[in-house]
Amino acid sequence: MALLEILEFPDPRLRTVAKPVTEVTGRIARLADDMVETMYNAPGIGLAASQVNVHERLLVLDVSDNKDSPLVLINPEIVVAEDEIETSEGCLSIPGFYEPVFRARKITVNAVDREGETFTLDAEDLLAVCIQHEMDHLDGKLFVDYISNTKRQLIRKKLLKQQKQRA
Ligand code: NI
Repeated sequence: MALLEILEFPDPRLRTVAKPVTEVTGRIARLADDMVETMYNAPGIGLAASQVNVHERLLVLDVSDNKDSPLVLINPEIVVAEDEIETSEGCLSIPGFYEPVFRARKITVNAVDREGETFTLDAEDLLAVCIQHEMDHLDGKLFVDYISNTKRQLIRKKLLKQQKQRA
């Protein structure tokens, strides 16, 4: 397995709309494994392929306490969304910043797993929020799109400065 580089806001590549995965090949399974390793290493609870500059509809997550229950969702589709919840969200592509965002509290998602089998998942609370956050990435959307323009510009400026200092 390999650690992948995570793109950081405001990298324009994060705005790419990902294409559906047409077939779950060995390449896709390896990508999923590498993304799980990259997510645990970061550490984070979710990672979308868009964040590692692969623009295909695949995401991984693990909201378990022991970090022993990775989930792989390929071509995820939300078929039911109910209730509302506001949580403080962060993102591996926007390190160090957390802002409140409203999401559906309960969702039902259809997706394909790492073995190419379709499945349906009922998710609530943190897992539901995480899936919606990662699915946004596949559409080129980031959690900072839900906050005020002023706050987003401030985060953008601070991150650009950090990225410059690192380079
Ligand atoms: Ni994110």
